[in-house]
Amino acid sequence: MKEIILAKNAGFCFGVKRAVEQALKTQEEYNKKIYTLGPLIHNSDVVKMLENNNIFSIDIKEIETLNEGDVILIRSHGVSKNVFEKLTSKKLNVINATCPYVSKIQNKAEKYKALGYNIVILGDEKHPEVIGINGWCDNTALITKDGKFLDNIPTKVCVLSQTTEKIENFQKTLSSLSLKAREILAFNTICSATSVRQDSANTLSKAVDAMLIIGGKNSSNTTKLYQICKKNCESSYHIENLQELKTFNKSILQNKKIGITAGASTPSFIIEEVINYLNEL
Ligand code: F3S
Repeated sequence: MKEIILAKNAGFCFGVKRAVEQALKTQEEYNKKIYTLGPLIHNSDVVKMLENNNIFSIDIKEIETLNEGDVILIRSHGVSKNVFEKLTSKKLNVINATCPYVSKIQNKAEKYKALGYNIVILGDEKHPEVIGINGWCDNTALITKDGKFLDNIPTKVCVLSQTTEKIENFQKTLSSLSLKAREILAFNTICSATSVRQDSANTLSKAVDAMLIIGGKNSSNTTKLYQICKKNCESSYHIENLQELKTFNKSILQNKKIGITAGASTPSFIIEEVINYLNEL
């Protein structure tokens, strides 16, 4: 008999789930067109679902076109203080769906900058989360993507991290800073959502005959899950959704044990569709 096992941790992380739910709830409440500042999530099925619910992504440059009373939702990555103030000064209805873990980092950036620390952020300077955090310390943060610093290291620093960073990079950052700085205050603000998904996928892919990894082809965390699984299980397949799975030769799915995992931007309805299909086969 076929056995289908879903990884212990798979799919939406807490912050993304909360933002999508908040968007739908806001739609119910206002019952009119809702805007999100940038795409809420990088998954085309979810974007379509949101658009069907009259929820559309808008670019920061387009804010000028909005009118007083329009509803705009800030996604889980958060935004800078300036952007936040700009939205409220336009008298928009601002729904803040910033992940609470990200809000905590923004608060720390603001607080410790005011206390005289130079803020250091480990992360990708082009990522909206990092741009947002930097915006809470007047865009003065020193940003490093791997613990190496091109600028001079100040003597008093407060270290923060993008939530999706690797712990090794955090260690490298602290180690480089310790050579120059005299006072180092460090907060490990890495979110465990990524690593727990990777650990679960790693364990499960060792114990099954085939692995299905569900998520957008442009989702970097899904691709990473696929790479981890492929190392342990030769029959690992990265699929976007049920439609893609249906194009597979059914013999692939005749395996005894099939493991399933999904990236942090994959909603549960897509995972369920795949599981139901496999059960029916
Ligand atoms: Fe929040 Fe962690 Fe997800 S910071 S948005 S729960 S990856």
